[in-house]
Amino acid sequence: MSRLVVVSNRVAVPGESRAGGLAVALDGALKEHGGLWFGWSGKTSRDRSGELHEQTSGNVRYLTMDLSRADLDAYYNGFANRTLWPLLHFRLDLVDYDRKTREGYARVNALFAEKLAPRLKDDDIVWIHDYHLIPMASMLRERGIGCRIGFFLHVPMPSSDLLAAMPNHSRLFSSLYAYDLVGFQTQRDVERFQDYVRLFGGGEVLKGGILQAPGGRRFCAAAFPISIDTGHIAAQSRAAVNKSAVRGLRASLDGRDLAIGVDRLDYSKGLPERFHGFERYLESHRDQKGSLTYLQIAPVSRGDVSEYRKLRNELEQISGHINGAHAQPDWTPLRYVNRNFAHATLTGFYRMAKVGLVTPLRDGMNLVAKEFVAAQDPEDPGVLVLSLLAGAAYELKEALLVNPHDYDGVADAIAIAATMPKEKRIERWQAMMEHLRANDIGTWRRRYLEALEKA
Ligand code: G6P
Repeated sequence: MSRLVVVSNRVAVPGESRAGGLAVALDGALKEHGGLWFGWSGKTSRDRSGELHEQTSGNVRYLTMDLSRADLDAYYNGFANRTLWPLLHFRLDLVDYDRKTREGYARVNALFAEKLAPRLKDDDIVWIHDYHLIPMASMLRERGIGCRIGFFLHVPMPSSDLLAAMPNHSRLFSSLYAYDLVGFQTQRDVERFQDYVRLFGGGEVLKGGILQAPGGRRFCAAAFPISIDTGHIAAQSRAAVNKSAVRGLRASLDGRDLAIGVDRLDYSKGLPERFHGFERYLESHRDQKGSLTYLQIAPVSRGDVSEYRKLRNELEQISGHINGAHAQPDWTPLRYVNRNFAHATLTGFYRMAKVGLVTPLRDGMNLVAKEFVAAQDPEDPGVLVLSLLAGAAYELKEALLVNPHDYDGVADAIAIAATMPKEKRIERWQAMMEHLRANDIGTWRRRYLEALEKA
C-alpha cells in the first residue's frame, strides 16, 4: 500500500484542540489510514520561516513548519483570508486584492514544496487540502515530483464570473491543472469549476469528469462530500451527558428547551442574520415566548483580520440589543459565548438541544450540521434548521431547510422545530442518520483515495 501524505495549513497535532471542520475531518481520516501530515505549526518565528518540527503518534507522523510573522501576515491573514476566503464564499464586496500578499502566498507555498519534496517517494500518494495551498502541486511538479497528487477544496467553488473578477485569476486557478484529481464538496461546485475551466481557463470539459488543460494535460474533477465519524459521535454524545459542563447547562435551563448554534466567528456563518431571525421569532411567536433559550457558541477566529473584528463588534451589539429588549428578570433569551469547548462536550450540548441552528450564508459543507444529527438521542431527537446555502443541504434533506437571508422564514422554522411532535422528529432524524451512517468520514476518505489511485 502506498504511503499517504496529507498537506494542509492546519495540522491537528495531538494535544492541541482546534475549531474548524478541516482539522477534525482530516484527523479522523489520517488516524484510520496512517501516514504523514504536513503543514503550518501554528507558530510564528521571529526571523525566517522554515523551521521544522516532527513527532509521531500512533500510525501518524506529524511534520510542521514555523512561519515568520511577515510570511504569516501575507500568506494566511492576507491572501488566504482577505482575498481567497471572501472570494470563494461569494463575497466580492469583502475581497481585498494586494500584490504583496499574493507574492507572500506564492512564497510560502514554494517553501512548503521545497521542504516536502526531498521527503517524497515515487509511490507516495500526496493529498493537498484547501484554499491555502492551491499552487502547491505545480510547485512540487517543478521540483520533479511525479507521484500522484490530489487536491480537495473544503470551501465552496463560486460562480466563474466571481473568480474571474480577481486580478490574475488564471495564474492561480490554472495551477489546479497540475493535480491528478481535484475534489469538491458538491456536484454544484464541480459544475461551477468546469464552467471556469471552459469559459476563463482555456481548457475543455471532456466526458466522465475529465478536464483538459490548455497544454493537453488531463485530470479529473469530482464531488466527494466530506463527513464525520458518525458512530463515534453517537457514542461520544451518549457518554457526554454525564459531563459536568453538560449537566450544568441542563440545570441552568430550568426546564426550558435549548436551541444551539456552534460556529467559528466568521461572516460566512450568517450569525448576525441568525440573531435577527431569532429576534423575529421572539416577536412573532409570542405564544412560545420564554420556552426556548438560544445558546450561540462562537469561538473567535482569525482575529488579526479586520472584517472578523468588525463582525465581533456587530454581534456584541445585536446580542445586547436582543437581550435588552426581550429578557425577563428570570430569563435571558440569547446566551452568546466566545470560547471554545472540547469536542466531546459539544456533542453533549447537541444531544440536549431541541433545535440546532446552522444557517451559514455560504458553506462548503458544514460539519456541525452533521454532528448535530449524529449526536441526537434516537428516542427523542432534536430538529436541525439548516441553510439551503450550505453543502450539507444537498444531503440532509429532512432538515428544516431555510434561506438564511429570510428572517421570517428562519423565525417560522425555529417555531416549527420547537413544537414538532416526537414521531415527526424521529422520522426526519432516522432518514438523516441512515444517510450519515452509510456516508461517514471513512467512506469519504476511501472514495477519494480510490478515485485518486485510478485518476
Ligand atoms: C475552514 C477552512 C479550513 C480552516 C478552518 C478553521 O473550515 O476550510 O481550512 O482550517 O476553517 O480556520 P483557521 O483559519 O483557524 O484555520
